[in-house]
Amino acid sequence: MSAAFGIDIGGSGIKGALVDTSEGTLITPVVTEPTPQPSTPQNVTKMCAELLTRCEVGPDVPVGVTLPAPVSHNRVLFIANLHQSWAGTDVHALYREYLGTEAVGVNDADAAGIAEARFGAAAGVNGTVLVTTLGTGIGSALILDGKLWPNSELGHLELDGKDAESVASSAQKTRYNLSYEKYAQRLQRYYAHVEMLLCPDLIVVGGGISANHDQFLPLLKLRAPIVPAKLRNTAGIIGAAIQAAEATERH
Ligand code: BGC
Repeated sequence: MSAAFGIDIGGSGIKGALVDTSEGTLITPVVTEPTPQPSTPQNVTKMCAELLTRCEVGPDVPVGVTLPAPVSHNRVLFIANLHQSWAGTDVHALYREYLGTEAVGVNDADAAGIAEARFGAAAGVNGTVLVTTLGTGIGSALILDGKLWPNSELGHLELDGKDAESVASSAQKTRYNLSYEKYAQRLQRYYAHVEMLLCPDLIVVGGGISANHDQFLPLLKLRAPIVPAKLRNTAGIIGAAIQAAEATERH
């Protein structure tokens, strides 16, 4: 068994668990802390440190942390749904200073995508798989033959002249109290657009709302099969832990 700790940072909560990365399963229950406000890099990372202490994570356990932002060469490129001071942050330096351990930073949707590709709805699928997460924003992970193309950021495609996630994220459904039928019309425009651009062989839909997939996925008419994520709200934790374990193996 190889174990690593995954932390998934969202707009309202930070959750983490120890993961068996060879099986894609949780070894310990998920522990949650609220996302501090303001959600600055320092505040959020200190909360992650508390979570590691609470879970008694030893110094030798690899740690992976998701962020709702593209992370390239350990730097946050821009951020939509957490404090703006994350933009430009060097996550390695941040984690070293406030976590008290080395940790790997990874985009939240990429983490979910990796987990779904290894152990979930996209396991064993060849060709192009698009994993999306519908939440405060829209996250995307592009997987080709099981390998991740990182930081695809397809939630920020332009749709109806607007940022796509400001039209079709599940937060918009909540905000405007849209019925599933009305919300599905927005998703139809979004997924049809992405499908036209990328020709995926499979589309996976994650995020909290995917628990109610039977209310909206059957309404979508696309060429590719579109299926709910399997790992649900643990995909980010599992994917972050996998990334951390693999980074440790490489060193
Ligand atoms: C961010 C992505 C993130 C997605 C879901 C978007 O606003 O730009 O990096 O994956 O939200 O959290």
